[in-house]
Amino acid sequence: RPPPYLSRELGYSTNNSAQSLPARSSGKPTLHDFQFGVTLGEGSYSTVKLAKSRVDGKEYAVKVITKSHLIRANKVETAAAERKALIRLNGHPGIVSLYHAFQDEWSLYFVIDYAANGEMQALISRLGSLSIPCVRYYSAQIADALEFMHSKGVLHRDLKPENILLDDAFRIKIADFGTGKVLEQGEERATTFVGTAQYQAPELLERKETTKSSDYWAFGCVIYQMTAGRFAFNELSDYLTWQKVKRVEYEVPDGFDEQAKDLVNKLLVHDPTLRLGAGPTGSPNDPNALKAHPFFATIVWSSLWTDAAPEIE
Ligand code: ADE
Repeated sequence: RPPPYLSRELGYSTNNSAQSLPARSSGKPTLHDFQFGVTLGEGSYSTVKLAKSRVDGKEYAVKVITKSHLIRANKVETAAAERKALIRLNGHPGIVSLYHAFQDEWSLYFVIDYAANGEMQALISRLGSLSIPCVRYYSAQIADALEFMHSKGVLHRDLKPENILLDDAFRIKIADFGTGKVLEQGEERATTFVGTAQYQAPELLERKETTKSSDYWAFGCVIYQMTAGRFAFNELSDYLTWQKVKRVEYEVPDGFDEQAKDLVNKLLVHDPTLRLGAGPTGSPNDPNALKAHPFFATIVWSSLWTDAAPEIE
């Protein structure tokens, strides 16, 4: 392990009493197997911390979910659903992997991929908006990850730039399945009101209904935002935002790439069955039709996860 001064540089605490305990090499890990560092993110019921494993020496993100908070907010099922979704999705390069899940008296711990370049939201804020080659590359990765997720029967239900992380190679890792839903065999829709106003689809507002297609609506909002540097739908209150969403009232700014605009127009469609990518396999709007959209003409899908990211600008 690095000498103390380096540990401090990396944000790892050095006054950790567990530091002198031996590392475990097999079985379920415990807190003592990790040296905790800086806080990466904070949610209502959880905190994500950088942690270095004493077992393999690698950096991970550990989501610490406080049990008392879960119980008080009646969200115990939520944590169980998040774990179940992550287990189902293990192995896709565009989705954070879950390596271990363990608990102690006070908390649940999910050991996941550390995405060293943080949230897509921060990148958009820093640059104002992304270049079209970047929008194309990230949109293609999101489309591929969504197709995989849905093929495993998982809905994300809160897709937005805060939940799209960037790894050390600036490739995406979709995170935060805390509002995820694992569909049962034959189940197509969920009826819990979740998400973030700017990305919520009309069917959720009108019928409390979310399907795979609702993730494609949010995807359209994300493409718009990466390209324009602002929300597709955002008013002074959630109520006013929802009115615009229900009427699908949005405008693209001057200079918005024409093919990106066509793609956004085919995703931000009121009828969820007609959105590009959301149709059943073999239909004219299935995930393959989405991948065949002219905006993605230069994307080589077979090397999407090994090609270098375009220059970030
Ligand atoms: N913020 C929240 N989750 C994260 C993760 N897995 N990696 C990096 N930053 C994060």
